[in-house]
Amino acid sequence: MNRPELHRDKMAQLGELTVGIAHELNNSIGYVASNLGTLRRYSDALVRLIQRVETHLPPEARERWQADLAAARWEYITADLGDLIGETQAGADHLRQVVGDLKVLARASPSTEGCTVDACVEGALTVLAHQAKHLCQVERRLAAPRALVLVRSQIMQLAINLVLNAIQALPTTGGTIRVTTRDNGDLVTLMIEDSGPGVPPELRARIFEAYVTTKATGTGVGLALADQIAKSHGGSITVDRSPDLGGARFSVVLRGANSARSTTQAM
Ligand SMILES: Nc1ncnc2c1ncn2[C@@H]1O[C@H](COP(=O)(O)OP(=O)(O)O)[C@@H](O)[C@H]1O
Ligand SMILES: [Mg+2]
Repeated sequence: MNRPELHRDKMAQLGELTVGIAHELNNSIGYVASNLGTLRRYSDALVRLIQRVETHLPPEARERWQADLAAARWEYITADLGDLIGETQAGADHLRQVVGDLKVLARASPSTEGCTVDACVEGALTVLAHQAKHLCQVERRLAAPRALVLVRSQIMQLAINLVLNAIQALPTTGGTIRVTTRDNGDLVTLMIEDSGPGVPPELRARIFEAYVTTKATGTGVGLALADQIAKSHGGSITVDRSPDLGGARFSVVLRGANSARSTTQAM
């Protein structure tokens, strides 16, 4: 197998694996979420019962009961219980979102659907939230809520590749990434800017070629794929310098795409 074929094979296997894992996780998340709802009802009932105990006690026992409650930090527990369950439910919701996004991403057949670029970008940022969290600030300026005919998984992939590159370009001390979308009527633009070192002008023409990388463990596939996806959506992708943040600025133009074909399969 030559290099592109090897890569395609590996991606196909990864896609299958991801769908399997996402399916498996989905079931677990389903019962975690539904059990949490039941746990909240049970704990509310228990708290109410314990609060009524005192009214059933003879006066001489009430003081001891109150001392027992204080020793067990009852007030703190009742306050914290609701928070804990709420946070866990929010965690389960987030997991469900991530798994849903992974399933879309790993979809083997690149079928088109009506979808907004903003939704694809949101999905991409959810998938990358962990990588970005402790390193940088991600500014969202999303203003393209009109649905286009897109291959959702491909536009998500494109956004992931660009944002991931931006994350990787930032120094360990952190920085800023800005994601902007704009609807210009017949086309939508997506811009990813960062405060990293930028792409040197002499490299700009080459980075969209496959296997061009400056990273020790890079594959050089991310931008080539993004370029193909933009083209298959009747658009293009260019790079220059972010006037605001000083680092790289990748600008993607997308047209609603009846022209969206499975060109990424060719990689
Ligand atoms: N945001 C960015 N800032 C600086 N350089 C970048 C940025 N994005 C891409 N590049 C350059 O483009 C090259 C190709 O990127 P890509 O195709 O995603 O492959 P890889 O990330 O595996 O290196 C990178 O190795 C890097 O030199
Ligand atoms: Mg990359």
